[in-house]
Amino acid sequence: MSDPFNTLLLVDDEPNILSALRRAFRKEGYEVVTANGAAEGFRCLEERPIGVVVSDHRMPEMTGVEFLTEVRRRWPETVRVILSGYAEPESIVAAVNSAGIAKFLTKPWDDNAVREDVRGCFDAYRISAESHRIARELAVKNNDLASLNLRLEAAVSESREKQEEIERAVTAMTETLASLQEAADPFFRGHADKVRDLALAMARALNLPAADRWTIATAALLMDLGSVGIDPELRRSHRVLSEADKAQIRRHPEIGAGVLSLIPRFAGVARTVRHHHEHYDGSGYPEGTAGEAIPLGSRVLALADAYHAMASDRPHRPRRPHDEILKALGDQRGRQFDPTLTDVLMSVVSDVQDPASKVDSRMSKVEG
Ligand SMILES: [Fe+2]
Repeated sequence: MSDPFNTLLLVDDEPNILSALRRAFRKEGYEVVTANGAAEGFRCLEERPIGVVVSDHRMPEMTGVEFLTEVRRRWPETVRVILSGYAEPESIVAAVNSAGIAKFLTKPWDDNAVREDVRGCFDAYRISAESHRIARELAVKNNDLASLNLRLEAAVSESREKQEEIERAVTAMTETLASLQEAADPFFRGHADKVRDLALAMARALNLPAADRWTIATAALLMDLGSVGIDPELRRSHRVLSEADKAQIRRHPEIGAGVLSLIPRFAGVARTVRHHHEHYDGSGYPEGTAGEAIPLGSRVLALADAYHAMASDRPHRPRRPHDEILKALGDQRGRQFDPTLTDVLMSVVSDVQDPASKVDSRMSKVEG
């Protein structure tokens, strides 16, 4: 197989010219192929890869410009040269325009000059071939990148859809559990919504991250879920509760946390629910945990829960005025409630003049 980077085709209808040219290139190290006209020239190009074609212009079958125009069409990567005894301006223009020639050389020629020109043509051929090779590699790499990008986009989209599906399932599950809590006592729902709103306002004031805000909001909606495990008669009773009754009611955080902890995504919610009746001074339940050992979300819920419990009408007592509520919460600052969070709640509700307008008028027995 010929090496196109080193193969030179000479086309001329005069054998003497071909011989003289062959001699001129003898020491250049090229594989020199000669053809006595266009037809033979085409055959040579069909038989082997050729880098540079030097052609006479005035030939009997077709002119050099016509020949090189066809060569350009069929072998566009070749570098084409006209060697002509007639340098009419029209033929030069035609050669450049239609045959895309690199050089227009004239007869008689100077051997050194022609050798130099042909060397330049092989350099041009190598540069062109190299740039074509790089362009082909780039095209392949671009295709690879494009298909990788498509696969990546599909994966991202699939993962986004799955994430959205999970979020929908979590929301549906929260709603289902909230309905269960509501079924245990219809008073819970309105109260839970308001506790959630107030707890979220406190969480925003504390600049808590979105994940923590979600945990607090979800725990607010489900904090009394464990009431489904408490005797309904006991929950609705207005009589003075015995210690045994109180003990049963005080089981609701643990029952609710037990149910929620079965769902991995709700682990933080379960923990927050479990401790929502702890007191800052350790006198709460179920564990008597104190201070900052109580989850932050639970300390926030304890305040929001107590605020709305006092701001609501109850079957056994009316709601309390705003000032009284703030005083009652302030009295428990550092005792039942986290002192810093008590201040946060005070600032969040400071513009509320009529809490009853913002809370549900009913409340459950289980408020702590
Ligand atoms: Fe509770």
